Amino acid sequence: CPQTSFTGKSIMITAGPTQEAIDPVRYISNQSSGKMGIALAEEAARRGAAVHLVLGPTHLKANHPNIRTIPVDTALEMYKAAQSIHGKMDAAVFAAAVADYAPSQPATEKLKKTDEELHISLRKNPDIAYLLGTQKNGRQIHVGFALETEQESKFALEKLQNKNFDFIVLNSLKDEGAGFQKDTNQITLFFKNKPSLKTSVLPKKEIAGIILDELGRLLDTTTKE
Ligand code: PMT
Repeated sequence: CPQTSFTGKSIMITAGPTQEAIDPVRYISNQSSGKMGIALAEEAARRGAAVHLVLGPTHLKANHPNIRTIPVDTALEMYKAAQSIHGKMDAAVFAAAVADYAPSQPATEKLKKTDEELHISLRKNPDIAYLLGTQKNGRQIHVGFALETEQESKFALEKLQNKNFDFIVLNSLKDEGAGFQKDTNQITLFFKNKPSLKTSVLPKKEIAGIILDELGRLLDTTTKE
């Protein structure tokens, strides 16, 4: 099928991990490299979109003149950056692996190893996809990700509903060739009104293309309404 053109469309993509400071030299984070979100940004830009990439800490860069990268470190920064541009977007893709919790009170000086046990208290970070999902207007399309290790379909479908996504991309760490850091991924797309679709293991660039084909179809429908 012919590729949808994204010319004239603005798309926000969150990507990469976030880092939550424990002290000035240590942090809580996860294994996201940013590759999946960057592949989405580059493919959307190639198809003509104006892409706003809110990117957590990674050494990787997105390369395309249509991509504006907004670098952030923490979940709170990612939320503020996403929130400030969301209203102007036609679509948002939430590919970031956001730390769900952050140290409540990061130490101002480097922690010393005095005690046998160290307890760090954590507070919940804002759920960016959820919060922006509550602000979504009828024409905006939201695409979520779910990274699961068990009961994959159940959790993905719950997130599709709870976070007000139009569709969700499940990647499971049980699938070889899927998930963090790899150059490939294997995904299942869950929709609200049609059967799910599982891909084979493909380069993240091609996975990005499959996700954007679906997003483009939905954008076409809302534009014609
Ligand atoms: O970066 P790579 O190394 O290429 O790896 C890609 C990836 C595995 C990180 C990516 O494909 C992926 O699955 N990203 C989402 C990972 C994740 O955090 O999933 P989740 O099930 O915890 O979150 C569900 C959804 O809510 C996601 O769209 C997430 O971006 C969003 N979320 C979650 C928590 C939070 N505080 N804010 C959010 O926006």
